[in-house]
Amino acid sequence: MKNNLTWHSHRLSKAERIRMSGQKPFVLWLTGLSGSGKSTLADALECRLHEMGFRTYLLDGDNVRHGLSKDLGFSDADRVENIRRIGEASKLMVDAGLIVITAFISPFRADRQMVRDMLEPGEFMELYMDVPIEVCEQRDPKGLYKKARAGQIKYFTGIDSPYEAPLAPELTATPDLSIHDEVERIVAYLVQHGVLRIGEQRKILSVV
Ligand code: ADX
Repeated sequence: MKNNLTWHSHRLSKAERIRMSGQKPFVLWLTGLSGSGKSTLADALECRLHEMGFRTYLLDGDNVRHGLSKDLGFSDADRVENIRRIGEASKLMVDAGLIVITAFISPFRADRQMVRDMLEPGEFMELYMDVPIEVCEQRDPKGLYKKARAGQIKYFTGIDSPYEAPLAPELTATPDLSIHDEVERIVAYLVQHGVLRIGEQRKILSVV
């Protein structure tokens, strides 16, 4: 099949799109157990970036599993395929010039590395939600830990399916900070590392 396909080089490049939007596109990849707060933090961070004038998109586990990955379950192979699809979708969005925030358990190191490798250096940052399973289980916002303990859900991450914590994440979030303070800390990191270019963004905004 692949042999009959040809890659088309279009005239409008990623560089042109970036120049037009005035922002550096990248992926901030949140990883952690179910109930570790990925979706809540991703949502708050996206709102903050939007308020600052950046163009963003949030890809969230439960939502993506209603559409793009609705044919997938939670076996190891299905999780690998889920992350591959999210990686490819994120890459397209980065190519379009967007800042992408993702919130998936993404339990396997090799899969997160695969997504990192799909992107250019500096376009992928990993944010580890470092929350002990006891805390996640106590929160149990969807009642899934209870079901998993009762044997009603199989292959539940942290119970009978593994989670491989990142070895060198760019950022780590713990339950010690409030969501607000965590968002400000992440924004400060992104600004310090030249990923969020606030000056240029403001220039574009003031022209509009
Ligand atoms: S991933 O492992 O493939 O990255 P993803 O983030 O898309 O997982 O989906 C996780 C969400 O699916 C959890 O937040 C939870 O609501 C739900 N879920 C349902 N079954 C499971 C399971 N067996 N393990 C983990 N999460 C599950």
